[in-house]
Amino acid sequence: MAKVKITETVLRDAHQSLIATRMKIEDMIPILETLDEVGYHSLEVWGGATFDACLRFLNEDPWQRLRTIRKHVKKTKLQMLLRGQNLLGYKHYADDVVEAFIKKSIANGIDIIRIFDALNDLRNIETAVKATKEAGGHAQVAISYTTSPVHNTEYYLQLAKRMEAMGADSICVKDMAGILTPYDAYELVKGLKETIKIPIQLHSHYTSGLASMTNLKAIEAGVDIVDCAISPMALGTSQPPTEPLVAALQGTDYDTGYSLQTLNKVAEYFAPLREAYLKSGLLNPKLLGVDINTLVYQVPGGMLSNLVSQLEMQKATHKYEEVLKEVPRVREELGYPPLVTPLSQMVGTQAVFNVILGERYKMVPKEIKAYVKGEYGKPVVEITDEIKKKIIGAEEVISGRPADLIPPQLEGFRNEMKEFLEQEEDVLSYGLFPQVALEYFKYRRAEKYKIETMCVDMENKVHIV
Ligand code: CO
Repeated sequence: MAKVKITETVLRDAHQSLIATRMKIEDMIPILETLDEVGYHSLEVWGGATFDACLRFLNEDPWQRLRTIRKHVKKTKLQMLLRGQNLLGYKHYADDVVEAFIKKSIANGIDIIRIFDALNDLRNIETAVKATKEAGGHAQVAISYTTSPVHNTEYYLQLAKRMEAMGADSICVKDMAGILTPYDAYELVKGLKETIKIPIQLHSHYTSGLASMTNLKAIEAGVDIVDCAISPMALGTSQPPTEPLVAALQGTDYDTGYSLQTLNKVAEYFAPLREAYLKSGLLNPKLLGVDINTLVYQVPGGMLSNLVSQLEMQKATHKYEEVLKEVPRVREELGYPPLVTPLSQMVGTQAVFNVILGERYKMVPKEIKAYVKGEYGKPVVEITDEIKKKIIGAEEVISGRPADLIPPQLEGFRNEMKEFLEQEEDVLSYGLFPQVALEYFKYRRAEKYKIETMCVDMENKVHIV
């Protein structure tokens, strides 16, 4: 038995899950040095949707955000989330972009990169793992956790073995939907501890109300690190709260050793921010409750609300129950993909189409076609010829690594955006989110111009005096 460590997610996943990733760097800076004092295993600060939200909604350079955090957090490791070959986007990038992005992430202050693939297709994460290690970073490989007849403990143990063999420095069990139950977690972690040597981390969401119990059972089974969020930004669709777990473990062999007084300073800082988010409507109190549907239907909360709004648009809300029954059918026919972005949206949309049109697979979104063609990777269970034929007809399925079909992209991106280039990182911002990055670059240029003319004005006035 050993001390348990905690990754604090307040600066990334917690606000991504509760307030659509809208926490500004100004709201983080005053508390960074206190966070650095706690002794956390790491602070998750970047990746996921933070990069996109910085450029799109906050007029912030995500790279500058990272450098600012690094300047104030001197001791604690900084961590980010990366969607394998998709980086922070929704499609595959060429290897040269993946390599450059990871190199720059580490150069700007990231220590640990949590790398996952929605399908657990390891070919989609091998370039990212290699690049992370080459740049001196810690490559944590994440298992996208889901349940199905094929996703049993044995499957996960085999997967973890392969992850360790490919060079993972640690493994994360990533339960994005919050469906991992305490006793399943116990069995899984126990099995992992007996199968692999590298540290194991558990990442869950409180959505269904299970996560604190799940963390505790995982700890009893020997998990090394768990993810939590400081209480004002915890619970609901976010992570389980940090302070109760620290208190629960005090005086036991698992004691984190963190000071509740220091954690209280962090909580007191975020409490008024939470109030402000609630007051402005940014934080919807609905997200803070327990979502039983997640347990009943085994689908993430976000996916259910998407289904409701799609049905509302089609004036077909009376078909909700029927669509809920169609979701597992579509998922089975597509080889049991884990219901994580973007697959959750894709499976949901197909289920809606199948029900509303009264004929299954009469209409198929182009993303589902691409998926069946193998462009996202390989599902755990092979899709039957019958379903393949229904969805893509006689079109060919690719069997190799999807990214092998993408030629180098970096120089093309550079050419397209060179008039705005101020730092090498800008090429990557543009490559990931072209339109959004251009808007930001224009804003940045306009701001600079404003400041320059202000300075000239002031100088002129000084001369006149
Ligand atoms: Co998460």
